[in-house]
Amino acid sequence: SGAPGIVVALDGTSGSGKSSTSRGVAERLGLRYLDTGAMYRAVTCWMLRHGVDVHDAAAVAARADEPRLESGLDPSAPTITVDGQDVAVAIRQADVNAAVSPVSAVPEVRARLVALQRALIDEALADGSGIVVEGRDIGSVVWPDAQVKVYLSADASARASRRAAEEGGSDVAATEQSLLARDQIDSGRAVAPLVMADGAVHVDTTAYTLDEVIAQVVDLVAVVGSQA
Ligand code: DC
Repeated sequence: SGAPGIVVALDGTSGSGKSSTSRGVAERLGLRYLDTGAMYRAVTCWMLRHGVDVHDAAAVAARADEPRLESGLDPSAPTITVDGQDVAVAIRQADVNAAVSPVSAVPEVRARLVALQRALIDEALADGSGIVVEGRDIGSVVWPDAQVKVYLSADASARASRRAAEEGGSDVAATEQSLLARDQIDSGRAVAPLVMADGAVHVDTTAYTLDEVIAQVVDLVAVVGSQA
């Protein structure tokens, strides 16, 4: 079923397979797709390009409203621009990886992006379609009324091997260290830490293929659709 009007909140750690799963589910069900991590990354990219010290929370907060973000919601071709510039490649670079956790811990940044995210979800629902939204706080903060909430996790070593392969064969041990460091900041921060939302279904992806995880989430959406 196309499950119109549905919001699927897909939260979890880096490297748990969130992005591939979210896009796959949206494509299979004809839903829109929003990658909120890309928005935090785009703001981080803007801060770095404007010479803002990303470890100075007050400096980041003072400029949190300036970057103009646009997120394309097509799961087969997601786009992200900041001040009109395509940053899809730049937001995956090492400088952004290293700076995104401190930037996304700044409350003013979160308040701004959560408001933008809610507006994009409202728009997708007004269009009569539904949306798959991936992030860390979608089921807990951004859209607690989501009909389907999924929390994806995987063992650190599995996440590191996948991420290192995506990055074209970077060092697995170093990748694991950087994933664990980001997990710790994301879970330990004061505002909207990564937690399993009330009502979320926990899917541990360690032992499953991407297609199997997509099928599990599609089944969860089907259950909700049949209850509606
Ligand atoms: O999912 P990702 O790796 O692209 O996310 C990048 C960073 O953004 C991650 O360190 C946590 C942060 N983030 C967040 O704080 N809240 C979200 N909803 C999504 C991402």
